[in-house]
Amino acid sequence: MPFQARIYMDANRKLGEISPLLFGGFAEHLGRCIYGGIYDPASPHADEDGFRTDVMQALRELNFSIIRYPGGNFVSGYNWRDGVGPRDQRPRRRELAWQSIETNQFGTNEFIQFCRKLGAEPMMGLNFGTGSIQDAADLVEYCNAPVGTKYADLRASHGFREPHNVKYWCLGNEMDGHWQIGHLEAEDYAKKAHEAAKMMKWHDPNIKLVLCGSSGPGMPTYPDWDRITLEICWEQVDYLSMHYYAGNPHNDTASYLAMAVQFENHVDTLAAVLRYVKSKLRSKHDVFLSWDEWNVWYKNHVSQGGWTEAPHLLEEIYNLEDALVVAQWMNVFLRKCSVVKIACLAQIVNVIAPILTTADKILKQSTFYPFMLFRRFAGGSSLDVLVQCPKYETKQFGDVPLLDVSACLDEAGGRQAVFAVNRSQTDPAVVELVWQSGAPSVLDEVHQVAGADPKAANSFEQPNVVTAKKLPSVPVSDARAVVELPPLSFTVMAASGSG
Ligand code: AHR
Repeated sequence: MPFQARIYMDANRKLGEISPLLFGGFAEHLGRCIYGGIYDPASPHADEDGFRTDVMQALRELNFSIIRYPGGNFVSGYNWRDGVGPRDQRPRRRELAWQSIETNQFGTNEFIQFCRKLGAEPMMGLNFGTGSIQDAADLVEYCNAPVGTKYADLRASHGFREPHNVKYWCLGNEMDGHWQIGHLEAEDYAKKAHEAAKMMKWHDPNIKLVLCGSSGPGMPTYPDWDRITLEICWEQVDYLSMHYYAGNPHNDTASYLAMAVQFENHVDTLAAVLRYVKSKLRSKHDVFLSWDEWNVWYKNHVSQGGWTEAPHLLEEIYNLEDALVVAQWMNVFLRKCSVVKIACLAQIVNVIAPILTTADKILKQSTFYPFMLFRRFAGGSSLDVLVQCPKYETKQFGDVPLLDVSACLDEAGGRQAVFAVNRSQTDPAVVELVWQSGAPSVLDEVHQVAGADPKAANSFEQPNVVTAKKLPSVPVSDARAVVELPPLSFTVMAASGSG
């Protein structure tokens, strides 16, 4: 049975500016993300620098604004000096986090080239496991200092005379996790982060630092780790990292499709910690959230490489329900845009990724499409929409609205968009969109990801089972429009500004 719903929008009810850095990605030396994914000089698709052109083309469609690198768990055992300079002199190493062989043929300079080719901002992770504060400061000098001193000259000798000017730096990765190489207690981590931050900002006062937050709400230290480390490092840092991976391990699709409730709680908790610490310290400084690892990940836990190069690790296959969870996550980024300023989809190729490769082909997974649509249509200000719709019952979150919605308005460009997930597995929604101010004349860009089977997935044999389809324009009259959203669907209804 169809259900009725109404979405009210008002150009005057703005939640804040949508940071372009909310559309970031994460690329780790893990499995086939770098080698055999992004970088494969032996491939017939490789460009002059060894990047796979077919992969680059797909990444351009996702148009990542910022890319975090080189880890992840990998970074906590990584010596950045191994990955720079003449390739034939770079060491092969046993990489402990993923028990793989690291050839170091791809390193800092290749990563910067990769980002420049994509037009993405680099976000550099630092080794806080086996690495020292001196190693961290030296890497800032290597990347950002003008020539004339040891590490800047080393960079120049590697072919990069001009500084890379890397602005965003992560002070370690998941340092509260027992699985992390060099795992630390909160106070010990915070003291190290504080001293590293001082040295790094003395090298370059323009950099922005991300403090390593707790690895997730399931951690016993959450959210005390965040409070303690912020209290020590508040004035030195600009962002607090958050990580979370969602899943449907018990095949409870009703609850899984309500995951946005959990994502919002996670943000609200950490936003409260930020407010508390700022008040306690009587600070004028602000720290924001960097959700720099987020994705669905629960099906594939093959994480040990058996000491081989580029093993097949964490190659998760995504289906329709996963894509609907990704869409809700991005709705949450828009709704929480006043505090979440950076977000990185983990990861970008092969490893828990929207793109899979074989030696000569690529596959766009279901999750590719919601990300692509948000990247294309989300911008300007996020709007505080009012949604009236029935609720449904879930085991995990109680009663939850059947629709999950966000909206944005780019007044300068005359563009706006509504992003809506219909969580119902059986019923279409008949939705009336009502503008209290700022109505467009037509919704001329309507795109939808939908299907009858929540488990439907793309494969190399059948690559178009779950994709985004462009639908006919929807007329707006008297500041109202009516659309029908099928069950298990994600729909973008946008006015391009040209209509
Ligand atoms: O993205 C895969 C891994 O998940 C990362 O290396 C780590 O930071 C997290 O636990």
